Amino acid sequence: MTDPLFASCPDRHGTGSEKWDRWPGRDVLPVWVADMDFRTDPAVLAALHARVDHGVFGYTADPPGFAPSLAEHLLRRHRFAIDPGHVLGITGVVSGLAVTARLLAAPDDEIISFTPVYPPFLNLPGAAGRRLTRVPLVAAGDGWVIDHDALAAAVTPRSRMLWLCHPHNPTGTVFSAVDLLRIADLAERHGITVVSDEIWSDLLLDDDHGGPCHVPFASLDHPAARRAITLVAPSKTWNIAGLCCAAAIVPDAGQRRRWRAAGGGLLPMVNSLGYAAAEAAWLEGDPWRRRLVALLREHRRLVVETVAGIPGLASIPPQATYLAWIDCRATGFADPQAACEAAGLGPSDGRDFGAPGFIRLNMACPTDRLEEALRRLRRAFAGDRHSPSA
Ligand SMILES: Cc1ncc(COP(=O)(O)O)c(C=O)c1O
Repeated sequence: MTDPLFASCPDRHGTGSEKWDRWPGRDVLPVWVADMDFRTDPAVLAALHARVDHGVFGYTADPPGFAPSLAEHLLRRHRFAIDPGHVLGITGVVSGLAVTARLLAAPDDEIISFTPVYPPFLNLPGAAGRRLTRVPLVAAGDGWVIDHDALAAAVTPRSRMLWLCHPHNPTGTVFSAVDLLRIADLAERHGITVVSDEIWSDLLLDDDHGGPCHVPFASLDHPAARRAITLVAPSKTWNIAGLCCAAAIVPDAGQRRRWRAAGGGLLPMVNSLGYAAAEAAWLEGDPWRRRLVALLREHRRLVVETVAGIPGLASIPPQATYLAWIDCRATGFADPQAACEAAGLGPSDGRDFGAPGFIRLNMACPTDRLEEALRRLRRAFAGDRHSPSA
């Protein structure tokens, strides 16, 4: 039976929801952008109500409880001990990545990323006048793996940074300590700084029953880890992306001092409600998070079963995130995204992640809605076979 916490959710049409207002006037069920349809944790809502009742919303720097609440959370969840003095409140992980491109690389320097990947990893280096080096992940049986030889071969004297998406979006891969140590060795050999986007690290789907655990890159006992920058946020796990509050953990004092200047005047302060929500999520949000993960695990099962029953589709089950990365290349449809939209389903288009022929499906919705989404997925690829190039 569906957990009553996640059985229903508010109607977001006409609220400016990026997810729900994408196909106005059309019956397209949105399963694209990575936010969930659920109301956030009641503990987070209570903190927001209390902050609203305070009534004053002036310019706000990191409140005294912000960094300690993050430190407590990381230690409890991931055995990752940080110095709260290294934490900078930022408006989002994406803006944090954009800052590192300017802070740690010069024009035409290279930033390495594993692909396919969340679109800003592909677009931000060029937007900053830096170069992107793509190293494809490899589908191997039941997991996506790093080709360490390809990674080593991709390094040049201009390689300055490796942007790790850990866990990885869109494949839902959780990188092991062994992989991370190999990356750390390479980074140390070549003077590369690892910037690790760990926004998904609280949504591992099996870590509570013996499955892979999240190992923060910067928690490794390795010199490259000690100078790595970690980006985290409560936004994915507690569904508060619109509150725009994230954190950069920057061990180097000089980099922390230069951080804001690297933003070139384009970095607004974090809003006071975002801080209130983040602190509550990190300090009080674990019971709600666990219930969410149990539901997502069940949803992953539904998606895996459905995909397995549709000829031409394939998907390696995600170890983390609420995103299913589906390979549609063997269906014969030239444009799988268009086929889905024609069947009333709105996933993310793999082209945006550097992978034409794939779609990404967001499973974070009530179960009956996911079942409807999966019916539409079936209709898109197993239904009308008369228009295979739709
Ligand atoms: C890997 C990854 N990083 C960053 C973000 C967005 O972060 P923010 O909203 O804090 O900029 C997302 C959103 O889906 C993501 O998947």
